[in-house]
Amino acid sequence: MELIFETMAGLEDVAAAEVDALVGILPRTRAPGRMVAAVPAAGPMMEALKVGLRCCSRFGVLLADAEVTSLADAQEVAAEIRIERFLGLEHSFGVRYTRQGQHDFNRQDLGRVVGAGIIARFRDRHGARPEVDLDDPDVIVRADLFQNQLLLWVDVVGDQDLSYRAYREYAHMASMRPMVANLLLRLVGWTDTADALRLQLIDPFCGSATILIEAALIAGVGLGRSGHVVHGVERFPGHVLGATANIARAGVAAEVVIHAGLAEATDSMLPERQPGDSRTRVVVTNPPFGRRVASPRQVDAIYRAAAQSWARAGVARIVTLAERSRSMATALADAGFAVRRQSAAIYGQIPVTVFVAER
Ligand SMILES: C[S@@+](CC[C@H](N)C(=O)[O-])C[C@H]1O[C@@H](n2cnc3c(N)ncnc32)[C@H](O)[C@@H]1O
Repeated sequence: MELIFETMAGLEDVAAAEVDALVGILPRTRAPGRMVAAVPAAGPMMEALKVGLRCCSRFGVLLADAEVTSLADAQEVAAEIRIERFLGLEHSFGVRYTRQGQHDFNRQDLGRVVGAGIIARFRDRHGARPEVDLDDPDVIVRADLFQNQLLLWVDVVGDQDLSYRAYREYAHMASMRPMVANLLLRLVGWTDTADALRLQLIDPFCGSATILIEAALIAGVGLGRSGHVVHGVERFPGHVLGATANIARAGVAAEVVIHAGLAEATDSMLPERQPGDSRTRVVVTNPPFGRRVASPRQVDAIYRAAAQSWARAGVARIVTLAERSRSMATALADAGFAVRRQSAAIYGQIPVTVFVAER
């Protein structure tokens, strides 16, 4: 049996490392943002994955990985999947679908034919068919089409993905999915309490504080009592208030400190280092892309000045992502940071570059 995992396209290796750390299997990338691993029997690891996965949005059981060039092909593949282990006549089912590439049909068409294929299979073999319920199905079948590659799988997580967080009372207009925050934190080396004790984390464009809250949750509540807080900087007072509400709701008010101000002055906002504090300063951040708050030209200047400020603050490692990748690469290089990793990735629908840089 094969498990399939959904994550951010471009950072599949980072998510795969988390799966390996959790359950001892290393999935391989099968398509953009999709990784697959063969497992003898998935039963016991399902709960561990549901509870522990932070770098994937969902996972399930892969039923088909086939090449298709038409809707008829897709329907045929759906009719062949051995879905009876997961879907019985007493269940309802719904197909959820994604599509990337050039096709002469839309994603709704894809969902429709996959559903039709499953129904035809049941009619032919069992003389009856399960009900379709698109709103609240018992079983969710996922159809992901990447150009000619069709992946069909049964989702074991549900419509509310693993990235859902009840603490997100304040909805920032450009908030980051917690899954992405966790991928970036993993890239900087922040995976458990021990990391939190040797690193000092800063998000200088913190918005609603998703990265900081996720970091504090990984570190474990109690970090603040030993003075190991994570720091955020945010320019707009409305977002500072929103971040503060989310932090309180997440129960990490003692672990996260938000400074109202500019990322370009990060170095002057951080508290003096205490004698004996040997923690490595790291930045994990999602700066503005220049679409809403600032123009592309302004963004270039902001990246440049912010990177200079992080260098003055003694930051040793930066993990960030940018749509204007050349602008970020130049800003990092000019501030003396060497880029160790540069990955093309998809952030929502936006092509971005994820950087890991060190000084
Ligand atoms: C892409 S958003 C970050 C979203 C955040 N990761 C979250 O999950 O909510 C970028 C944030 O940077 C803030 N910002 C823009 N320019 C800034 C600057 N010069 N200094 C500090 N913050 C700034 C914006 O107000 C916005 O909240």
